[in-house]
Amino acid sequence: MTEPLFQDVIRRRRSVRKFEPGRSVGRDVLQRIVDCGRWAPSGANVQCWDFIVVDDPATRDAVTAVFLRQAQRLVDHAKGFPAVKKTYLANTVAIVLVLGDPRWKACFPQATTPEFDAEYRDNNEAIFLCSLGAAIQNIQLGVAAEGLTSAWLSGGGEDETNRELAELLGYPAWMKAYGTIPIGVPAADQNRRFRRPLAQTLHWNRYEPRQYRQHAQVDFYESTLRPFAMYRDEESMESWPDRAEMLGEWNDAFVGAVTNPGGELEPEADFSRPRVIGQATKRRKT
Ligand SMILES: Cc1cc2nc3c(=O)[nH]c(=O)nc-3n(C[C@H](O)[C@H](O)[C@H](O)COP(=O)(O)O)c2cc1C
Repeated sequence: MTEPLFQDVIRRRRSVRKFEPGRSVGRDVLQRIVDCGRWAPSGANVQCWDFIVVDDPATRDAVTAVFLRQAQRLVDHAKGFPAVKKTYLANTVAIVLVLGDPRWKACFPQATTPEFDAEYRDNNEAIFLCSLGAAIQNIQLGVAAEGLTSAWLSGGGEDETNRELAELLGYPAWMKAYGTIPIGVPAADQNRRFRRPLAQTLHWNRYEPRQYRQHAQVDFYESTLRPFAMYRDEESMESWPDRAEMLGEWNDAFVGAVTNPGGELEPEADFSRPRVIGQATKRRKT
């Protein structure tokens, strides 16, 4: 495969949540797609995954029903998160669930003295999750290479949803569906999505503080920009017709190379929850 072709697959891997109904593909196609996941890297080569491919329409409808309940729980209990309706799952040619098997974390570095426990424990969790992410990403790229499209649903990993999926599909509930990948024939030509400019994300040899994004920029994205950055069919916010109104004083930080002209870094804060509770969905409705 030549490099431009590879780049093309990377760029065509968009989260498209609109599929043509009534379509199907052969199991050979689905096998090729899942094989891409099998070739993903994993910490200590543990391959801490299993892939369940749901291509039986009745089982697909049952999985869809689980995700419709999951989406309703989001509306009720994670207010403000800009999720889209999941009825499109009914139009998939298949749904791939990537299960994570936590037993394999035992194969990552283990502290031999108690004071080093924390040193390794959190990073082992990261190794586990990154390995699963690599498999999920490979599968999505495999989908794009077949001219199909997909999304990456993380809701299968939520407690209640995973319990329902485990019961439906027969896997032990202590494994988790970290990635659910609905696959379909695209019904929309969605080939662009907001990406930060390369010059803003790329640091040569050393972290460039002028490219640091301030805490307040994260707050602004969370409270105001998020649904638009997630769903608009534009790579750069520069192309947004309402850019001035939407970005205001944050214009340069989102479209330029320099996000932090003063070059000051900020101390760590509580990053475990938003500092500004999301206004995005409420704003969109008005
Ligand atoms: C870890 C992870 C979890 C995600 N969870 C969901 C999800 O639950 N539902 C969904 O529709 N998209 C989900 N996405 C897709 C993102 O919204 C999407 O990748 C992002 O908005 C950029 O769009 P693009 O994939 O078209 O480039 C997830 C992506 C990642 C990497």
